[in-house]
Amino acid sequence: MAVCYDKKSKTISINTEHTTYQMKIGPYGVLMHTYYGERISGEDMSYLFRYEDIGFSPAMGDAGMDRTVSLDTMPQEMPSFNVGDYRAEGIRVQHGDGTYVLDLRYVSHEILEGKYCLEGLPAMYGDGEKAETLKVVLRDRAKEFFVTLLYGVFEDLDIITRACLIENREEETAVMDKAVSMSMDFLTADMDIYTFNGRHTMEREAERKKLGKGITSIGSLRGTSSHQHNPFVILCEPETEEEHGGCYGFAYVYSGNFLVEAECSQLDMLRFTMGIHPSRFKVMLEKGRIFTMPEVIMSYSGNGLGKLSAQFHRAMRNHLCRGKFKNSRRPILINNWEATYFDFNGEKLIAIAEEASKLGIEMLVMDDGWFGKRDFDESGLGDWFPNEEKLGMGLHELIQRVKEKGLSFGIWIEPEMVNEDSRLYRQHPDWAITLPDREPGRGRCQLVLDLGRECVREYLYQAICGILDTGDISYVKWDMNRSISDVYNPELSPEQQGEAGHRYVLGLYELLEKITTRYPDVLFEGCSGGGGRFDAGMLYYSPQIWCSDDTDAIERLKIQYGTSFGYPISTVGSHVSACPNHQNGRITPLHTRGTVAMAGSFGYELDISKMTAEDKEEVREQIKNYKKYFELIQEGDYYRLTKPEEIFMGWQFVSQDRGKSLVNVVMTSARSNAPGCIIRCRGLNPQDNYKEAGTGRVYSGSALMYGGYLLPKEMGEYQSYQMYFERV
Ligand code: DGJ
Repeated sequence: MAVCYDKKSKTISINTEHTTYQMKIGPYGVLMHTYYGERISGEDMSYLFRYEDIGFSPAMGDAGMDRTVSLDTMPQEMPSFNVGDYRAEGIRVQHGDGTYVLDLRYVSHEILEGKYCLEGLPAMYGDGEKAETLKVVLRDRAKEFFVTLLYGVFEDLDIITRACLIENREEETAVMDKAVSMSMDFLTADMDIYTFNGRHTMEREAERKKLGKGITSIGSLRGTSSHQHNPFVILCEPETEEEHGGCYGFAYVYSGNFLVEAECSQLDMLRFTMGIHPSRFKVMLEKGRIFTMPEVIMSYSGNGLGKLSAQFHRAMRNHLCRGKFKNSRRPILINNWEATYFDFNGEKLIAIAEEASKLGIEMLVMDDGWFGKRDFDESGLGDWFPNEEKLGMGLHELIQRVKEKGLSFGIWIEPEMVNEDSRLYRQHPDWAITLPDREPGRGRCQLVLDLGRECVREYLYQAICGILDTGDISYVKWDMNRSISDVYNPELSPEQQGEAGHRYVLGLYELLEKITTRYPDVLFEGCSGGGGRFDAGMLYYSPQIWCSDDTDAIERLKIQYGTSFGYPISTVGSHVSACPNHQNGRITPLHTRGTVAMAGSFGYELDISKMTAEDKEEVREQIKNYKKYFELIQEGDYYRLTKPEEIFMGWQFVSQDRGKSLVNVVMTSARSNAPGCIIRCRGLNPQDNYKEAGTGRVYSGSALMYGGYLLPKEMGEYQSYQMYFERV
């Protein structure tokens, strides 16, 4: 059993292969957090905590004159509130009698086989993997108010998940205006925090900083997880690097407003919480209502960031992503967006398909502009029927003719949005999210449909089925191109408005669940202006997400580097586009664009008819290589070999048996009379010998890892290299 209870010490320990997580029913029934880290042998870790009188940290009521206990200093599994704990709040509630208080104490626990599910919310699943659930029930000391903590344990994956259920059983309604899915109190705050921040076309730039006193926080109030701050965070010891040191990762399986807080307290302890953002959040907990908080995926590595990432990659790839494509090679596609933008018709797409098939490309994706009245981005959203006049043919015919060229067919949709200039808006202006008596804010000239409402979801379900039933559609790119504002749901009472944002997310999940269940053979790609909703919640419905609207290979290095800390390579949609690059005008070699796009689900997004014969040959070669290496890329372990600020970026894929490896390098600056560049490999077996494809040269694993590989010297900017090694 991974979870065990020691009656004598009253500790509950969760052991995974390499880690231990421990809690203890402490003094006065407070559920204390006593340890998370490298696996230990089961002792009661509370010996690390000192009970003493700390000035201005009051005792709990039931402790009477005992001056040695205070919730302000005790490490807890879920913080209490307004009973002397002044650190970042967990669950904030006002009971029916007006009192603001939550004094949580242990009631019971059970250990169950298999992994828990969460109603209406995405969550990791067992699927053949050894998994257990720990449920711990806490209750307020005076009120019938319960919090059930859920822990999912994947022993072999070194993964523990957390979620919680919040229930009011009092007659009178309680009002909750802050809730976290998890909270953890570390005994030391001597840690760095990694966050992944950015903007549209520059998402998830890794930022590392030392935690100082007070609260460090990131979050989103955009209705989505956002381009600006990603709901994946790492805490690590100051000396931690790729291959050594302790580190903790936390991925929120949620796609809406969120808040992460890391508070370094007066005693240099650290409280870390992840939850729904409390701003504009308020839940009316009528008697018997259970509110389910989304899941957090947690993992610890004592051997550096590389191992931590590998743990998340494996867990998400196999136990979060679903559907027939989660482990199989995705078709190599060509998307017409950067090739044509809105300026296309059926014949133009068929011509692209014809050229693409000659190069080995397997799917054509028709992007924005094929429906309603849409020749630019100010009209048409909501009208999900093909614009036959523009296409010059019906959708069915177009699909057939693309298929005749030997390509499967994919389609772009943006179901959550509506333009005021659309048939849908004219019929149902009230379906758009707006505040009464106020002009709504437009983003990209569009409004957001309220997916929190049943009638909207039903329309969208029928509309999407209508498209997908038109012909043989193998892929859907589900886009979402603005942040949500003016949040208000007319179906909710004034008191319930604080749930409108969360209900939108639940509605989105419900719709995605229905659609993906009805079309199990369709590959879904998530997208929100690139990677504005690149989170673990969306990966439950779409095994890949368009990583960024920035297709410049050099900026992508940074974006894909940051993304790789938490998310598997198979989930990263990445395309080769034209030069000069459409986002920043940079010119890079086609080979380099291919090398970078291959660190993901691979495709093209350019006008092939404008390519030279030489370029087309390069594309053929890239496709051949991607097909050859895809297992290694998709299922191998991924190693970051350098950091973005270095003069070259390197990353490496190594097969699970360490027999094959693909090393990738992109030079990020050209230099004259420069010293030789050496890249050190990782993850190989030091004792084994590896033969390099092409040169046939044999190196020992130890030579490649401890000595390194000498990169060729070439002229010109942004050269790249892919070295493939196989064990001999
Ligand atoms: C944003 C996406 O990220 C792009 O790839 C493209 O699909 C456009 N939307 C179309 O409007």
